[in-house]
Amino acid sequence: MPQLDVQKTIEELTLGEKIDLVSGIDFWHTASVPRLNIPSVRMSDGPNGVRGTRFFNGVPAACFPCATALGATWDTELLHKVGQLMGEEAIAKGSHVILGPTINTQRSPLGGRGFESFAEDGVLSGHLAGHYSIGIQEKGVAACLKHFVCNDQEHERLAVDSILTERALREIYLMPFHHAMRICKTACVMTAYNKVNGTHVSENKKILTDILRKEWGWDGLVMSDWFGTYSTSESVIAGLDIEMPGKTRWRGDALAHAVSSNKVNEFVLDERVRNVLNLVNYVEPLGIPENAEEKILNRPEDQALLRRVAAESVVLMKNEDNILPFKKEKSIAVIGPNAKIAAYCGGGSASLDAYYTVTPFEGVSGQSKGEVQFSQGAYSHKDLPLIGNLLKTDDGKTGFKFRVYDEPASNANRELLHELYLVSSQGFLMDYRHPKIKSFLYYVDMEGFFTPEEDGIYDFGVVVVGTGKLLVDGELIVDNTKNQRLGSAFFGNGTVEEKGSKELKAGQTYKIVLQFGTAPTSDIDTRGVVIFGPGGFRFGAARRTTEEELISKAVELASKADQVVVFAGLTSEWETEGYDRPDMDLPPGTDEMISRVLDANPNAVVVIQSGTPVTMPWVSKTKSLLQAWFGGNEGGNGIADVLYGNVNPSAKLPLSFPVRLQDNPSYLNFRSERGRVLYGEDIYVGYRYYDKVNLPTLFPFGHGLSYTSFTRESLTLTTTPEQANLDDGEPITVTVTVTNTGSVAGAETLQLWVLPPPTEVNRPIRELKGFAKVRLEPGEQKTVEIVAEKKLATSWWDEKREKWASEKGEYEVQVTGTGEGVLKGKFEVEKTRYWNGL
Ligand code: BGC
Repeated sequence: MPQLDVQKTIEELTLGEKIDLVSGIDFWHTASVPRLNIPSVRMSDGPNGVRGTRFFNGVPAACFPCATALGATWDTELLHKVGQLMGEEAIAKGSHVILGPTINTQRSPLGGRGFESFAEDGVLSGHLAGHYSIGIQEKGVAACLKHFVCNDQEHERLAVDSILTERALREIYLMPFHHAMRICKTACVMTAYNKVNGTHVSENKKILTDILRKEWGWDGLVMSDWFGTYSTSESVIAGLDIEMPGKTRWRGDALAHAVSSNKVNEFVLDERVRNVLNLVNYVEPLGIPENAEEKILNRPEDQALLRRVAAESVVLMKNEDNILPFKKEKSIAVIGPNAKIAAYCGGGSASLDAYYTVTPFEGVSGQSKGEVQFSQGAYSHKDLPLIGNLLKTDDGKTGFKFRVYDEPASNANRELLHELYLVSSQGFLMDYRHPKIKSFLYYVDMEGFFTPEEDGIYDFGVVVVGTGKLLVDGELIVDNTKNQRLGSAFFGNGTVEEKGSKELKAGQTYKIVLQFGTAPTSDIDTRGVVIFGPGGFRFGAARRTTEEELISKAVELASKADQVVVFAGLTSEWETEGYDRPDMDLPPGTDEMISRVLDANPNAVVVIQSGTPVTMPWVSKTKSLLQAWFGGNEGGNGIADVLYGNVNPSAKLPLSFPVRLQDNPSYLNFRSERGRVLYGEDIYVGYRYYDKVNLPTLFPFGHGLSYTSFTRESLTLTTTPEQANLDDGEPITVTVTVTNTGSVAGAETLQLWVLPPPTEVNRPIRELKGFAKVRLEPGEQKTVEIVAEKKLATSWWDEKREKWASEKGEYEVQVTGTGEGVLKGKFEVEKTRYWNGL
């Protein structure tokens, strides 16, 4: 299709067509107007991979490590490459827009979506997001920064009012967006669900028009988060271009009425339409046809990049006595709940069906030349493990039959509408469609056959958005249809898991049936959560065992083994959209297991997979510890590359790891109370707080060791003279000479901090203002340059003037890197200036 003449097209559109264009038509598409050659635009999540248009039974995609893992690389060049591959993955899925990156701020380790954002610091997060977005947009695909702004918790995320000072808004929560926009003006921005200081962001003119468009000079498209539009006129007037998803709840006839009655001027609606048409023009060169088929890429070079990113995100937290790297020739005991599962991404809209996954056990086994033994040690699942891959269909395939009916099982004459064959016993039906299914009310029987390998009592569990009954050989084992309680699964829409049990015999085959009714069959109270479509199901099972039995077997194996590695952590069940964690702890039983394995073998290496910090009561006993995040589909290989030294770890923490949850500055204020959350720690988020009150962390922001050592010396600092025209920028350029003094190649990350002089307002002791990563062979020396922008590096937000204040005075610069040692310098700001803009 040719580029549209936007002004002429607006003049030719009827009012009805204009209104059609400013809301989605379904979950992932905008409206088309064929008469004027306006095509539909396809959007797809998300931050760590491009899922395509189907949550349920979708086409698999590449899964990158989660954003905190990407944040830990501190590597803008690598993020640029990640963005490029994301762009190519989007094109393969026929998608014009990627709904990412997510760049909210981790106020607390408990945030259910903390794993989805890069860092607790706006300079780190914004730089990474900017380069990642450049990579996406170089491929012609539109990037979408989200969620603008202050969607930093999941509890009552639609309803909560984030109450914060203007300083905190500017200096902390807008800062990732501010920096990202300086580097890459993304084509789209998605609004946050919540209110900011009394007004929902999707109808907040100050945020959407005054700051984003006028002050920052940005002219892209603003879309709502999914079901995050709450008004007709207010949202249009405030600057929300598109309501997503469709079918519209607030626009359509209501907007026609608002325009007819002059509540919304047509020229204001025209501005919303203009931004939609500009997006259509932006993505037109992609040449993606409407209703494009969704394809897979999964090329060897992509797999190599995913593996590289996974390995380069692993943080070496401790390594006393150089326990790591392991020796490939020696045997190894692999222990722990995360060894044989691939915790490859967090839960919610960031999740996707990956092309394939590599578990840590497979990663280690693939590289070890010695014997590899395994012991479970503990389980990390929250709900019982999915059982789908242990079932067989009546025709012998792995999995089960999914049969959709118009009526419940009690009606013998019901019609079979659709039959599918599935393997995963978890499905969220939000975008499942079939021509014979006319409403959200339908019934599904899922049937498979299970042959246990061991005798014992088996526990079965059912979680639903809807209702569900699980039967074993016709006997009702779990009834999740009555007295349902809201839990954490399915974006907070799912019930708590209901369980039942049955004694089973090894070798005997049992028929398992889940009788599922969609969401309208349930009367659960879902206030405060986003309701996503017709519902979802999850059923699992496991042989009952005791914690003691599992731990003693692990301890016995560890005590005799040459090398031991323990894989523990969280999964997408614990860290997920729609639900904040209640505490910072590992799943029940894990700490006890790690502690006793370390008593049995003090050289055991512990690998933690989690998107955000966890408590580690056993940490003083560990000599060697890795933080490995949710590592994407190559996660297991990436971890094994670090364990065996194929890759020298170079990642640094993008978040502070507190000793206890109570130490976290948001501890008193991290939930919605009577509809509001007070950002009581103000600008003292993460390291800004721990530094200010001199409170030790378990591991600080920026921490990360290496298998080699570096020296840093000869800091030089130059600043350009201050100019009247601030738009031209005024770099502060710092150079440092770095030498790799060890015997293996490695990468060093330099962090540039600025310490302000004392002033009228309280300020953090130091703030990160720039960073640079450099790779060095053994003995190699390089001079590394780090550049920061003077006005941003020195300013605080003056609430009286509503401007940034860069105050006259002498500022100290510090450069840090791996291990101890701080290089210092100074620069002057000659006169105080107040400014606005990017
Ligand atoms: C999330 C967004 C996501 C959207 C579409 C929402 O629940 O907050 O980040 O892009 O769903 O999946």
